[in-house]
Amino acid sequence: MVKVKILPDKENASAEVAQELYDLIVEKPDAVIGVATGSTPELAYELLAEKVKANNIDVSQLQFFALDEYINLPWDHPESYHSVINRTVTVPLGVDPSQVHVPEAPDDAAEGPVRYYDEQIEAAGGIDVQLLGIGRNGHIGFNEPGTPFDAPTHVGRLTDMTRQDNSRFFDSVEEVPPLAVTQGIGTILKSRKAILMAFGDAKADAIRDSLAQPPAEERPGSGLQLHSDCIFYLDEAAAAKVDSELLKVN
Ligand code: GLP
Repeated sequence: MVKVKILPDKENASAEVAQELYDLIVEKPDAVIGVATGSTPELAYELLAEKVKANNIDVSQLQFFALDEYINLPWDHPESYHSVINRTVTVPLGVDPSQVHVPEAPDDAAEGPVRYYDEQIEAAGGIDVQLLGIGRNGHIGFNEPGTPFDAPTHVGRLTDMTRQDNSRFFDSVEEVPPLAVTQGIGTILKSRKAILMAFGDAKADAIRDSLAQPPAEERPGSGLQLHSDCIFYLDEAAAAKVDSELLKVN
């Protein structure tokens, strides 16, 4: 079941997401939060950190699980997701790096399951809120089209479109690693709540395909229709191709 909330712009949507996370942290100081990379959630992280600092909230019991990480990219590379999560979540919130987990697989990893990460998530009590962005082809985490909906954390291959899109963070597309380890759609579906954010018209097709058609593995975002408590925070441009009768705004 997916609820959809359309806000006039990214600023308003990010403020609502930051407030949801803040409320969770205040209510449950040992909350487990799934964090996404990409440019979409960055403002929500900033606004959350501001609120947490302004109100002197204790963050020492929180736990964070990143969605994904490239394979064969050194962790100290500025675009490794270890570095990105450190820069956007760990440091601004003032949490200890030991509270933040990022999936790992050896540089010579083959495609297939990486189960230790799901076990770690389970041992932490499961994810309370999982944040997500979405790729232009509908990928969530690095679950590309065709990924089974029950996939655990696994090593998967990036599509050419995803490598092309992510090449803006690198000097060239050849530098974007072809393999990544990602929470599976099965892992994501186990979170108690999922929040997907999408902004801008480049995401409009992916959002339409996630919401307006039945779940199908060639549309990874549509797998979220199987989630028990999922909400999409969209700006008007990202929501432009979804029929209004499909939208349950509250
Ligand atoms: C990457 C990440 C995804 C993210 C997507 C969209 O491929 N693995 O988790 O959702 O990019 O990124 P952006 O938010 O920058 O559009």
